[in-house]
Amino acid sequence: MTQKLYEGKAKIVWATENPDEVAQQFKDDATAFDGKKKGQIVRKGVRNARISAILFRLLEENGIATQLLDQIFDDTLLCRKLEMFPVEVVVRNFAAGSICKRLGFEEGAPLKAPLLEFFLKDDSLSDPLITDAHIAELGLVSGGELDEIKRLALKVNSVLTGFFAERGVMLVDFKLEFGKDSAGNIVLGDEISPDTCRFWDANTKKKLDKDRFRRDLGDVEEAYAEMLKRVEK
Ligand code: TMP
Ligand code: ASP
Repeated sequence: MTQKLYEGKAKIVWATENPDEVAQQFKDDATAFDGKKKGQIVRKGVRNARISAILFRLLEENGIATQLLDQIFDDTLLCRKLEMFPVEVVVRNFAAGSICKRLGFEEGAPLKAPLLEFFLKDDSLSDPLITDAHIAELGLVSGGELDEIKRLALKVNSVLTGFFAERGVMLVDFKLEFGKDSAGNIVLGDEISPDTCRFWDANTKKKLDKDRFRRDLGDVEEAYAEMLKRVEK
């Protein structure tokens, strides 16, 4: 962990002695609305690293390849190096966030089936919603790869929905990022945490995710702590 390869809004990617491996360090820094809102969430880095490690291991046990190799520090995961697709894959089970603004859904409305959306990862364009046709036109992902990404995203959803239901949490929606390993396999990368998911308590519907920061709802650290507790159960 010597050379910084990349610093994003919530993570730093470090080189390791092995050229096929990187270390991802999770930061307490939080941003929202395209980086317009900035802050810190105390202990977010260690909590998100732990939550992400547990969830990636769960997915591996369920036959989904992920980039996770090991947790090497409280806030740092050793990962296989991937060539990431510049696409965010969002899976929605209930309406919340941008789909409510875009299409007028009421927050919390159940969707008939898990809904997949793609967003272009490009801050200068504010990560716009894109269609399969845009993905093909821009040459972001090949047709066969996109089919595989859709299949994997829906499988992740079914594994995680069941896991969280057992812990009294509604998985409202979440964002995934995929990449390709040196052998050309499609592998799940990035993170799965309260930064990248919407989690609601199944009974009270209390938000237990980054929406508490985005919308100044208070109890931000408590929400991350509560999600770690439930994931560790
Ligand atoms: P959205 O409703 O704002 O489109 O967000 C959908 C899901 O994706 C939500 O769980 C939050 C997550 N997400 C990210 O992880 N990163 C982002 O940059 C955005 C906009 C959303
Ligand atoms: N993290 C993203 C940003 O700062 C957006 C979000 O999660 O709401 O743009």
